[in-house]
Amino acid sequence: MELAAQSGAKLDHCLLSTSGAMANENALKIAFHHKAPADRIIAFDNAFAGRTLATASLTDKAAYRSGLPVTINVDYLPFRDSANPERSQRWAVDELHRLIKRFPGKHAAFWAEPIAGEGGYYEGSTEFFTALCEPLREAGIPIIFDEVQSFSRTSRPFAFQHLGLDQFADIVTVGKITQVCATLYGEAFNPTGPILSQTFTGSSASITTGLSMLEQMEANQCFGETGKNVELGNYFRQALEHLSSKYPQEIRGPFGCGMMVAFTPGDGSFEQAKALMTIMYEKGILGFVCGANPTRIRFLPPPVVTTREHIDLAIQLLDQSLQQFSEA
Ligand SMILES: Cc1ncc(COP(=O)(O)O)c(C=O)c1O
Repeated sequence: MELAAQSGAKLDHCLLSTSGAMANENALKIAFHHKAPADRIIAFDNAFAGRTLATASLTDKAAYRSGLPVTINVDYLPFRDSANPERSQRWAVDELHRLIKRFPGKHAAFWAEPIAGEGGYYEGSTEFFTALCEPLREAGIPIIFDEVQSFSRTSRPFAFQHLGLDQFADIVTVGKITQVCATLYGEAFNPTGPILSQTFTGSSASITTGLSMLEQMEANQCFGETGKNVELGNYFRQALEHLSSKYPQEIRGPFGCGMMVAFTPGDGSFEQAKALMTIMYEKGILGFVCGANPTRIRFLPPPVVTTREHIDLAIQLLDQSLQQFSEA
């Protein structure tokens, strides 16, 4: 909580949980409870919130809902397009105004990843988010930032801090690297009824690991404009840029921010991404797919322990994989 409030966000309550999905489920419950009887959520195209019934409903991927009921009403906005930042911002803001007008008082929250994770490593910007968060504030719609993937990977512990959005962070979720997951929120959102509880919200081992991770990140200068996250993320992206000039048909990008690094393989189809990932796996380098149209391959190098030598080795293996991919 101390880290979350470090530059002004009003986040002084914390509820632990065992998964990122559950942290988001609790965030949604807090928002719905606060804004009852509002029953809609605003999210971005390609959102990924987890795999419970509510978070699968919010997640913008039909396959992840196959055979499942849609349990919450979600209205989607287009995300920022770095190739057309002004146009995409205008489009998103216009669409937001239309939604607020179409469903007055019906939105319980705006839910967003500051940097889209599973959706394809698309980066938000201060300007883009501010242009959306100001009208959301005016309309009294709470803002949830999902940092389950982005926490600890940018110049600041939270990506909302990296983007200077502290004043808009009403409810924030973290997970993955923290081991124990959490929903952070301010006093104004403290539920007035018994809507939140779990038998086990985290094991003592996961809580200890999470605390140790936080200490290690501070002790190893991961944060700051010249901190390790920025430095190593840029080093990784520069190396990918060299590879993309060597294999212009096979790799486009790089994309992402800090220790969230991605590129688009081949023609951007899922099939080509899978083919390259299989070759990479055989060579000994692990990536994950993200996004759709185009499908990208992403890397999540762990802060604290990743070194330039690890990245050099990863690039060597990727170079060999791209060579084989280009000959296939
Ligand atoms: C942004 C985001 N939110 C939520 C989740 C769900 O977390 P978990 O898999 O721990 O339930 C993920 C997992 O990838 C995620 O990337």
